[in-house]
Amino acid sequence: MRVILVGFGAVGQSFAELVDQEARKLELDYGLRPKIVGIVDHHGAAISPEGIDIKKALASKRSMKTLEGLGAGAYHPGKSALEVIKELECEVVVESTPTELKKGEPGLSHLKTAMKEGRNVICVNKGPLAIAMPALIELAHHNQVMFKFSGTVGGGTPVLDFAKKCLEGSKIRSISGILNGTSNFILSKMSAEGVAMKDALAEAQKLGYAEADPTYDIGGFDTACKLVITSNYVLGTSMSIKDVDITGITGVTKKDMDVAKGKGNVVKLIGRVEKGASVSPLEIPVTHPLNVSGTFNAISFDTYPAGEITLVGKGAGGKETASSIIRDLIEIRRTFAR
Ligand SMILES: NC(=O)c1ccc[n+]([C@@H]2O[C@H](COP(=O)([O-])OP(=O)(O)OC[C@H]3O[C@@H](n4cnc5c(N)ncnc54)[C@H](OP(=O)(O)O)[C@@H]3O)[C@@H](O)[C@H]2O)c1
Repeated sequence: MRVILVGFGAVGQSFAELVDQEARKLELDYGLRPKIVGIVDHHGAAISPEGIDIKKALASKRSMKTLEGLGAGAYHPGKSALEVIKELECEVVVESTPTELKKGEPGLSHLKTAMKEGRNVICVNKGPLAIAMPALIELAHHNQVMFKFSGTVGGGTPVLDFAKKCLEGSKIRSISGILNGTSNFILSKMSAEGVAMKDALAEAQKLGYAEADPTYDIGGFDTACKLVITSNYVLGTSMSIKDVDITGITGVTKKDMDVAKGKGNVVKLIGRVEKGASVSPLEIPVTHPLNVSGTFNAISFDTYPAGEITLVGKGAGGKETASSIIRDLIEIRRTFAR
């Protein structure tokens, strides 16, 4: 299975590393032989129809920040992902460029072009889905390609496939979740140690859990993206991020935490879909299954007749998210093999 990898950051590199390290197991257990024939980052592209030397690509990216180390034969500075997707034969395009929520670019164009070229697509980038998920699903259907995006919600925790496949036959009445590890780390720290928001945020930044500009996480936008993707995939809605009522955690104070504590509650950033979709800080009982601490994610499905079912796991991380790409590749392989 020939793969073009677009985006070679934390997730892209972890994916390449997994393909390299797990090659034997993937072939023995799943008949899967992924061959990365193209890697594109912001600077240019590496191309090798025989398969890129992954160890060399990783070493080059880590030491030089580009793929230049692969040599003049393979490295094409300035070559764009769109050019590579159009010119290079492959079965699967993996999209792992940064999430952008105004137009969903550059990911949206990468996905559309790949689908129009008849490539199956695996996307970990939430931007294109938060903005244009129904249109992308239709485009994939029209071009008869598979469109997988397991890593967009829950990182390596299989939230989407769990809900879609394991809850078959149950009615899902509502979905509530703690879907952003950064916000959860900050709120957990404020609650446990009585520190102010700005100190908890500074600690999250120091530990690498929060970006220098934390708006996307603490403003509730990341949670909203994941809610849109989950609702559309699991409940069959046709939402975009514009349909979500979003309040982040920036207004949460130490006093709010103390008041909640007095009632046996904690304050959490909850994404919820029932009749409408919303993201906001809410009080939940300390005994509630969604009360996970640190950077963990949790998602509860209120189902009939089975009742509430909650899934907990690491919601992010390069390796964890790369494992979701492997899951998607296995599913694509299985579908082809049928
Ligand atoms: N990290 C996680 O735990 C996690 C979990 C779930 C989902 N995600 C999503 O996965 C995506 C990737 O995350 P990440 O952590 O790997 O991000 P990252 O480390 O910032 O990597 C992004 C990569 O995209 C490349 N890129 C940027 N613009 C590009 C363009 N126009 N064409 C080609 N490549 C381009 C960058 O190139 P340069 O290296 O040259 O700058 C970089 O290699 C994001 O959308 C993120 O939201 C991440």
